[in-house]
Amino acid sequence: MAQTKIAIYPGSFDPITNGHVDLVKRTLRVFDQVVVAIARNQEKDNSLFTLEERLEMIREVFKGLGSRVKADSFDGLLVKYAKKTGAKVIIRGLRAVSDFEYEFQMAMMNRELAPDLETLFMMTGQSHFYLSSRLVKEVASLGGDVSAMVPKAVLKKLGERF
Ligand code: PNS
Repeated sequence: MAQTKIAIYPGSFDPITNGHVDLVKRTLRVFDQVVVAIARNQEKDNSLFTLEERLEMIREVFKGLGSRVKADSFDGLLVKYAKKTGAKVIIRGLRAVSDFEYEFQMAMMNRELAPDLETLFMMTGQSHFYLSSRLVKEVASLGGDVSAMVPKAVLKKLGERF
């Protein structure tokens, strides 16, 4: 039987946006399973949602896709987590050119640390090019309408928070 092709999609996901959701769906065209993995050591004091809340939102958003999308979190290095999970590929989204330098550095560092692990970049859908969790939080906190930018479960949570 063919091996299940697993991709890890790491990030902060504070909170997950429609841009992230689009990326997971695109990835599922190529991979059997996507593990949306929240880096725990990225939990800065200014995170809006707790790790549990973020995991819960991701699970809610993808519940219709069953075991094809898993939500998880990890401590320490991403490459170590990937090895433990058995994934050979890291997925990252690319939006504007400004993402490139940061992403390039991370991909190169991860390759240095784990040469057998590949980073694949997916282009974000056109309608999500301007989207980021940071801006969504800022707009929502100032009373702006973010209903077209985040899944319903996230919109509800943002509404409770602000
Ligand atoms: O969504 P983000 O905040 O841009 O995601 C960054 C993330 C979580 C992918 C990155 O910071 C990461 O991989 N953190 C885990 C620790 C690690 O492996 N650091 C070295 C990266 S080269």
